Amino acid sequence: MAAYEYETHTYDAIVVGAGGAGLRATLGLAEQGLRTACISKVFPTRSHTVAAQGGIAASLGNMGPDSWQWHMYDTVKGSDWLGDTDAMEYLAREAPKAVYELEHYGVPFSRTEEGKIYQRPFGGHTTEFGEGPPVQRTCAAADRTGHAILHTLYGQSLKQQAEFYIEYFALDLIMSEDGVCQGVIAWKLDDGTMHVFNAKTVVLATGGYGRAYFSATSAHTCTGDGGGMVARQGLPLQDMEFVQFHPTGIYGAGCLITEGARGEGGYLTNSEGERFMERYAPNYKDLAPRDYVSRCMTMEIREGRGVGAGGDHIHLNLNHLPSEALAERLPGISESAKIFAGVDVTKEPIPVLPTVHYNMGGIPTNYYGEVLNPTAKDPNAVVPGLMAVGEAGCASVHGANRLGSNSLIDLVVFGRAAAIRAGEVVDRNAPNPTLNQPSVDACFDRFDGLRHAKGNIATADLRLEMQKAMQADAAVFRTDKTLAEGVDKMTAIAGKMDDLKVTDRSLVWNSDLMETLELTNLMPNALATIVGAEARKESRGAHAHEDYATRDDENWRVHTISHVDGNSVKLSHRPVITTPLTTEKQGGISEAKIAPKERTF
Ligand code: FUM
Repeated sequence: MAAYEYETHTYDAIVVGAGGAGLRATLGLAEQGLRTACISKVFPTRSHTVAAQGGIAASLGNMGPDSWQWHMYDTVKGSDWLGDTDAMEYLAREAPKAVYELEHYGVPFSRTEEGKIYQRPFGGHTTEFGEGPPVQRTCAAADRTGHAILHTLYGQSLKQQAEFYIEYFALDLIMSEDGVCQGVIAWKLDDGTMHVFNAKTVVLATGGYGRAYFSATSAHTCTGDGGGMVARQGLPLQDMEFVQFHPTGIYGAGCLITEGARGEGGYLTNSEGERFMERYAPNYKDLAPRDYVSRCMTMEIREGRGVGAGGDHIHLNLNHLPSEALAERLPGISESAKIFAGVDVTKEPIPVLPTVHYNMGGIPTNYYGEVLNPTAKDPNAVVPGLMAVGEAGCASVHGANRLGSNSLIDLVVFGRAAAIRAGEVVDRNAPNPTLNQPSVDACFDRFDGLRHAKGNIATADLRLEMQKAMQADAAVFRTDKTLAEGVDKMTAIAGKMDDLKVTDRSLVWNSDLMETLELTNLMPNALATIVGAEARKESRGAHAHEDYATRDDENWRVHTISHVDGNSVKLSHRPVITTPLTTEKQGGISEAKIAPKERTF
């Protein structure tokens, strides 16, 4: 057994991750007087939410008529009918409240002439239950909305006396013999000390796993750490096959050019200078949902109408927009285009390509943020003491495809929901649990084994193999052949985890070891993605399967549940929740209105 000394910290609630969801949960917990700490491997305001650009969806109706029912309908349709209806209703209904709270906390939103929060159009957001024109629903702080939200939430959390453990890397969950989460163990990166956090509830807010792919808009820190921790405890992941490609990553660099650019009037063209989206989506054109636009771009390139010397990308045009509007509404992407593509957006188009952006799948939860461990008897059974929010979680509000700007609202609505729920279930007067020592010891054994790994493969080399396999075989379009090859490749790649070589054995700022730990998190996420994709014999949302061109609701309107163990994945299913929280009589939407139908734009 590996012997590491550690310091023990005791809290009511521990939040792992300090992005939008983690900070909103931290703030909500601390506001209720719960002893709360937030652990983050980066400084909170460097969490990946800082990179969110275009905005946060809520039916405020500041720019024209809107309603939460329309927002809910769009989210259901956007999810390609795979989202859980109760969670989607909760999201749409709570969104305006959550945004006004942000405003009151101090988020510096852009403003209309009348001083209201400015809202812009985003793909898939419409009026009249998908029958009317696009709606301006996405609340924006120029094109730096995530930055504005993150800084505000961090300041507010400090004001509420939440404690922060910054540059602490969360290693593993502590679980009791009977499956209750009791806390988490973390490694302090700057001095090498070990820390055991004993908590009555743990909220995982660790973000997505975009870095399982070669080209992603996600930060290098997006390594699916929560999913890895959960998988190691034998708990499942859900709907991992649904990976969103954002239509406009900068060609070559992968950096995000916000969908807000098209919301403000930008449009895509092919090598013939054609606005091709008019052909594919006559009603919503460039503002069709992301899965659809990404597929159309890919088809244009495949059919020989890509731009550039290699004919392998597409142009995003903004140069027809007034330069004052670009400076006021899109200053961030104007700068990114200059730096990463050498383009002056007032004069030239930006070269763009669909780029991995978001994971719809994650740790399954209900709409309170409680982690699920579905069984055949109870598909909605919860794991006591464990919650997950934000991109790490899968509530599931995005189903098979997320609408742009529904991510930031997911972070704050469910960060807030988890805090409210914890306030209800955590007994402040009860003593903290007695920790299950074998669970603590197992974590240190794993850590020590990796620290002294003497195999033949460097972490960076194995990570690159994984990223290339995922990029090639779990792409925008998938076939039986590419997916079967992908499963074989990824099974072999994951099998090499036992042959890793770590050369730095120190404990202080050991980036070799930290990247190895991150790879142990990325790998189960990646494996579940490709295995889940290979098994799903239909096309739905971001899962565009060329051998099964249509959606198959009879057989496949189910969540994929994956248990990952080493390099093997066991799949099962969980029913989609199709009942809304409220009836039409109570002001909600009838089940008939949101029944599955063909998804056209
Ligand atoms: O395009 C964007 O600004 C990204 C927004 C989102 O992913 O929600």
